[in-house]
Amino acid sequence: MNEPGKLYVKTFGCQMNVYDTEKIYAFLQDTYVPAASEEEADVIILNTCSIREKAENKVYSQLGRFKPLKDINPDLIIGVGGCVAQQEGERILKRSPSVDVVFGTHNLDELPAMLEERKKSGKRICRVREDTGTVPTADAPRVMGGRGATSLLTIMKGCNNYCAYCVVPFVRGREVSRPASEILDEAVFLVEKGVREITLLGQNVNSYHDPDTGAGFVSLLESMELLPGLERLRFVTSHPKDFSPELAHAMADLPSVCEHIHLPVQAGSDRVLSAMKRGYTSRQYMEKVELLTKLIPEVEFTTDIIVGFPGEEREDFELTMEMLNTVKYQNIYSFRFSSRPGTAAAAMKDPVDADVKRSWLPELQDLQNQITAEKHRNMVGREVEVLVEEKDNKKNGFLEGRTRNNYIVHFPGDPELLGKIVRIRLTNSRAIHVMGEMVN
Ligand code: 5AD
Ligand code: SF4
Repeated sequence: MNEPGKLYVKTFGCQMNVYDTEKIYAFLQDTYVPAASEEEADVIILNTCSIREKAENKVYSQLGRFKPLKDINPDLIIGVGGCVAQQEGERILKRSPSVDVVFGTHNLDELPAMLEERKKSGKRICRVREDTGTVPTADAPRVMGGRGATSLLTIMKGCNNYCAYCVVPFVRGREVSRPASEILDEAVFLVEKGVREITLLGQNVNSYHDPDTGAGFVSLLESMELLPGLERLRFVTSHPKDFSPELAHAMADLPSVCEHIHLPVQAGSDRVLSAMKRGYTSRQYMEKVELLTKLIPEVEFTTDIIVGFPGEEREDFELTMEMLNTVKYQNIYSFRFSSRPGTAAAAMKDPVDADVKRSWLPELQDLQNQITAEKHRNMVGREVEVLVEEKDNKKNGFLEGRTRNNYIVHFPGDPELLGKIVRIRLTNSRAIHVMGEMVN
């Protein structure tokens, strides 16, 4: 038998892509083993993201940097997948001569055949399928999992919401849920491999429906709760408009569901939320935050925010700042609005001067940094439960993990503790994490 080749997949963008990357490794596991670096790879794949223009540009600059690798190794195969591939297709082959294979977000299963064909025929190949409406991983081999204590698990793909700024419904297609039986099967497999924490993944997990039984997301959480050996359960992303009181109660009642929720607010102004077509007001959003805080005292919130949506004025932006001060998010993911082709917002006029808006994002991030710092300081002195996820890659002899409510904790410890749950006393606050030491 031939020596297996070496595969390097570089991931851009969201959690969905992180999961797809795992699937790419899995689809190719019979012929390729993971490479430690781009330099030693026989196949390099870029799993791309088109959610903002900046993410898309990164792909082309990265492709430019692969040219010298191809000069050294003419047999090196370069593939481009993900959302940019889904949208751009053949144009990538035209624009980047070093690319051999382009595959869309619905074509992962064809990748082994495409790579074979490229090797045999020498022809450059592009396959971008229209959304087939099929379930994401029905015919996929199991994701590799077992590479650590935590794993992602896709429960649905696509999105039906068409928020005015967002390209996801166009590239990822309509919403399709996987059967719960298949999800549970995959979860059992992961737990058997040593996974202790699973994050259920979907663009809008709250609208999950088992295609076999019609049962909703809460029912899926209840079934996951019964899996022996699964300590922690998380999920992303929750759309605030579909986040129900029933789900808040389930989070409070199910012991494995962690005390953290990512609830993307996008903006604090009702005028902007309505222009974004988000389907909730700031008051309705706050009602969900208040209910969760009442039911789950330790709960922490994170969110996504877009600054400078078309027509957003200073007073709108200040309402977003107010939102940060009221909710006291643990962390935010904040972005300058980026106009994406084909979306409703791309056609909207913006009377507000771009120069005026430029300073808003750093202003928002400064405020959040102060809030995060204060929250980290408040944790010092407390004793918490941490799932040890990896070695601290900057500090020898240190490990890194997370509390149930999503604080990142660094502490000195033996690598044997990887995958274990330990008790830590928090001693010092830092910008991104909190330092601690083991109790006993
Ligand atoms: N411009 C800026 N940010 C965007 N996001 C999605 N589309 C855009 C866009 N066109 C952000 C949203 C979303 C996150 C994943 O990316 O905040 O929640
Ligand atoms: Fe995009 Fe809105 Fe769907 Fe999220 S809910 S993926 S922001 S369209």
